Amino acid sequence: MAKITKSDKFLKLVGKHKDRKKVEKFQGTLEEYLKLLEEDSSISQLAHKRLYEAIASHGITKMSQTDARCNKLFGGHELKTYDYFQNNFFGMERSLAQIMRFLRSASLKGEESRQVLLLLGPVGAGKSALMEHIKTALEGADGMYHIEGCPVHEEPLHLIPRSLRPGFEKIYNLRIEGDLCPVCRFRLREEFNNDYTAMAITQSSFSARGRRGVGVVPPMDANSQDVTVLIGSEDISKLDIYPEDDPRVLSLNGAFNVGNRGIVEFVEVFKNEIEFLHTMITATQEKTVPSPGKGPMIYFDGVILAHCNEGEWNKFKSENTNEAILDRIVRVNVPYCLEFSEEQKIYEKMLAQSDFDGHIAPHTLSVASMFAVLSRLHPSHKVDSLTKMKLYDGNEVIEKGQVKKIDINDLRDEVRDEGMTGISTRFIMKAIDSALSDSEKNMVTPISIRDSLIKQVKEQIVGEDDRTRYLDFLGKTLHDEYLNILEKEITKAFVSAYDEQAEALFNNYLDHAEAYVNMVTVKDSITNEEIAPDEKFLASIEEQIGIVGTARENFRVDITAFMFSKLRRGEKVDWRSYAPLKEAIESKLTSSVKQISRIVTKSKSRDKKQQGKYNEMVKTLITEYGYNEDSAEEVIKFAANNLWRDS
Ligand SMILES: Nc1ncnc2c1ncn2[C@@H]1O[C@H](COP(=O)(O)OP(=O)(O)O)[C@@H](O)[C@H]1O
Ligand SMILES: [Mg+2]
Repeated sequence: MAKITKSDKFLKLVGKHKDRKKVEKFQGTLEEYLKLLEEDSSISQLAHKRLYEAIASHGITKMSQTDARCNKLFGGHELKTYDYFQNNFFGMERSLAQIMRFLRSASLKGEESRQVLLLLGPVGAGKSALMEHIKTALEGADGMYHIEGCPVHEEPLHLIPRSLRPGFEKIYNLRIEGDLCPVCRFRLREEFNNDYTAMAITQSSFSARGRRGVGVVPPMDANSQDVTVLIGSEDISKLDIYPEDDPRVLSLNGAFNVGNRGIVEFVEVFKNEIEFLHTMITATQEKTVPSPGKGPMIYFDGVILAHCNEGEWNKFKSENTNEAILDRIVRVNVPYCLEFSEEQKIYEKMLAQSDFDGHIAPHTLSVASMFAVLSRLHPSHKVDSLTKMKLYDGNEVIEKGQVKKIDINDLRDEVRDEGMTGISTRFIMKAIDSALSDSEKNMVTPISIRDSLIKQVKEQIVGEDDRTRYLDFLGKTLHDEYLNILEKEITKAFVSAYDEQAEALFNNYLDHAEAYVNMVTVKDSITNEEIAPDEKFLASIEEQIGIVGTARENFRVDITAFMFSKLRRGEKVDWRSYAPLKEAIESKLTSSVKQISRIVTKSKSRDKKQQGKYNEMVKTLITEYGYNEDSAEEVIKFAANNLWRDS
């Protein structure tokens, strides 16, 4: 058999692609279009509805009550999430829900269909990426039907004369909005002798690059900005041939022309002069845009999306001459992500998309994400920043042997506009990149990312307060936090069958605590003798989290009640079920191996047996926790120097 070459394979793809295009692209008359419309009225839907459907058709998921994030972070409120954004955007469910609410109301022709949607957020919060993703949704949707040759791809129904529209609307139960553009009107008269059934109808896909149904307005300085960018121009060379008001002189290639039926995007919108933006007002209010030259207004149907940062917005807002435009704007804040676990997913996504090929040690991205979130949080009167960061992530924070009972909503209510300042995603990515390029071992670790972040803060953050605060997070808060994480991990790697040991401690604790509370005896598991609850053992666990003296009694009562109610609801309990006890058990296990950790991690003092134990631990770190030899060595060294110093 002849060998199939790469070009054979590819040409086959090309063939299929061509075939598909042939089948998909409609070519026909108004009559045929009306037949299609009868079967599927959505082909004539307006832009907002089309965009809403293009996104929603990928699926809508109601955040479930059983989802921990739903309960802890959204107060049990079952927020809708849109599958189309799920794998690309993280920790911005609120903004996305607002955007979709806007589109949905607009698609029902509410007031929103006559508004500009403005995304407002700090640099690197994902506004541009979000815009791109939204535009891509249209590109994946079915193409629009339009009058062939129309520069603004207009709706074929515009051909139906005003006098026939009431009849049409009654029969089809559809309303026709808008009138023919000057170019089609002219052609209808001159080329088709006013026979509107003779004009050809075709179908085109949406394409940002092809400037079909997606128009983009980049920010322009005062000198180069010209309204032709928005509404097109008159072709000077043709002005010699045709009279001034002849539509044949028009070049309808402005953003509003191109974006008709789809999206017009204003990038960094308020960098533009205000005069330049007045077209926005008519485009929203009247759903028309001016024609270049002296022609009549042209019908416009499109979603107007804009984005900018807060500084530009505030400046714009403060000028009262801008009121008319302000009145047309629906603002959605796109703050930075404030959940570090979600923030981490952003970097995982960005690294996966890049050519990055280094080793990333466990907790590296987590530490970087914690720093990013800490820098964005406003201080609270109720808790310290680290605690707030953990609560915002849905973690339970233990204080004095109890789960800290703080309502996240109270913390949110304390501040306004949180997430609009702080370290950007780009800042973190740059630090990751430079940590990698500084590494001789082609890896990034929590230790090297921290060094790299410190260096970058010193170089780039000029504000004295921020600088001090950031360096404090990196030098103290996260230093300690990472050591905690690392200590637990090394302990786990040291203790063989860690989970079983933890579970055994848990069961033992529960048996004795329950017996203590109920003032009964416990059956000794080995001798089968009935014995009194072992208070010394109970205390040895409790002291791990600072529970001493009279507090013990309450702790035992609480925990017994907690477990009992869980069991009664048919839920499973294990050593992780009650956060304070989990912490106590982990700490107990950690202290049980402290001595050996201290000796073994120091290369100088190891004897042969200890060397064996050490090797085993390193192996666990590599095979089970995702380190490589170099990164395992680096973190162990770090632990030896910081955790188990000989005192
Ligand atoms: N919450 C987020 N979820 C997913 N990616 C994000 C998020 N925030 C930022 N990014 C990523 O960060 C990068 C910079 O974002 P960008 O869209 O350029 O920000 P902006 O336009 O707001 O300045 C992009 O690659 C984007 O995908
Ligand atoms: Mg941007």
